[in-house]
Amino acid sequence: MSEATNLREEALAAIADAPNPDALETLRVHYLGKAGRVTAFMKTLGTMSPADRQLLGPVYNAARDEIAAAVATAKSRLDAAALDARLATERQDMTLPVTPPRRGRVHPVSQVLDELTEIFADLGFAVATGPEIEDEWHNFTALNIPEDHPARAMHDTFYFPPDADGTRKLLRTHTSPVQIRTMLAQQPPIRIIAPGRVYRSDSDATHTPMFHQIEGLVIDRNITLGHLKWTLETFLKAFFELDEVVLRLRPSYFPFTEPSAEVDVECSIENGVRRVGGKGAWLEVLGSGMVHPRVLEACGLDPAIWSGFAFGTGIDRLAMLKYGMADLRAFFDGDQRWLDHYGFDPLAVPTLSGGVGA
Ligand code: DAH
Repeated sequence: MSEATNLREEALAAIADAPNPDALETLRVHYLGKAGRVTAFMKTLGTMSPADRQLLGPVYNAARDEIAAAVATAKSRLDAAALDARLATERQDMTLPVTPPRRGRVHPVSQVLDELTEIFADLGFAVATGPEIEDEWHNFTALNIPEDHPARAMHDTFYFPPDADGTRKLLRTHTSPVQIRTMLAQQPPIRIIAPGRVYRSDSDATHTPMFHQIEGLVIDRNITLGHLKWTLETFLKAFFELDEVVLRLRPSYFPFTEPSAEVDVECSIENGVRRVGGKGAWLEVLGSGMVHPRVLEACGLDPAIWSGFAFGTGIDRLAMLKYGMADLRAFFDGDQRWLDHYGFDPLAVPTLSGGVGA
């Protein structure tokens, strides 16, 4: 009994003297922890005779509870004191100048993509997507580019090793397969744009093995070349932020459109730099045409009922034209200095009402 009393006295005195929360925690473990001295005392109850246990049990329990209560009281007292001490030493100097936190910049490709999405959303176009790993049917065959067609070789395609059945997957060489996927997935009328990454084995100042395209597709009844021209004119005016742009539709060839046209905008050349909106020179900006009847048929649409137009262009190229970068490879170098210079404020989101340009 006196041993228990001594331990109780000793513990209460030590706890009352604990100078700080850490010292108190050490004492708590020393007395009440799993291997603590009070705990060891409590364990001896199990080995006693029932008579002793009846006598000593309440004493031990009371001592343990009293020590635990003393720890709790000391803890709140010491915690409050520690907080007071901290508050007394910590000061905020409200006169210090504000250093703005470093903020990331929006990549020109993302910026131009946001601008295009905004412009076409206003014209009622939805955004469609497709896989970057495509099959030959969607990337070529359904687009009226059969296996022996020279256009297949022109695309510098990255192929995957053939599957067991001999078919090859590839990295899509253009966004045009999204036309096919969209026509197979939904009934006309269709008005979509399909932006995304495309891949070709090519690299110089104006070509990178990965780049970005945007595709447009409209399918409805009685769609004509006039609808195509109006849409492109409206889009290019909004994109280059000009009241007038002069377009030239130059006859061309794409397997998936008939007739096909390459679209040039009139520009000027000043000190070797082309400026859209000026006079005297032409700048090619997109490929387009009326969707080929065979493409409609490949997607289960009757060309006697449905017609449409499509267009495609490079997002990176549009960014270079509008914002004046000379080398496409710098787009993908991940150089922070380039991005600081050519990037955009993340809070300046392009809107038609506020202006799509930065
Ligand atoms: N897919 C073509 C390319 O990558 C671009 C293109 C041309 C897309 C004409 C079209 C189109 O939709 O009508 O070169």
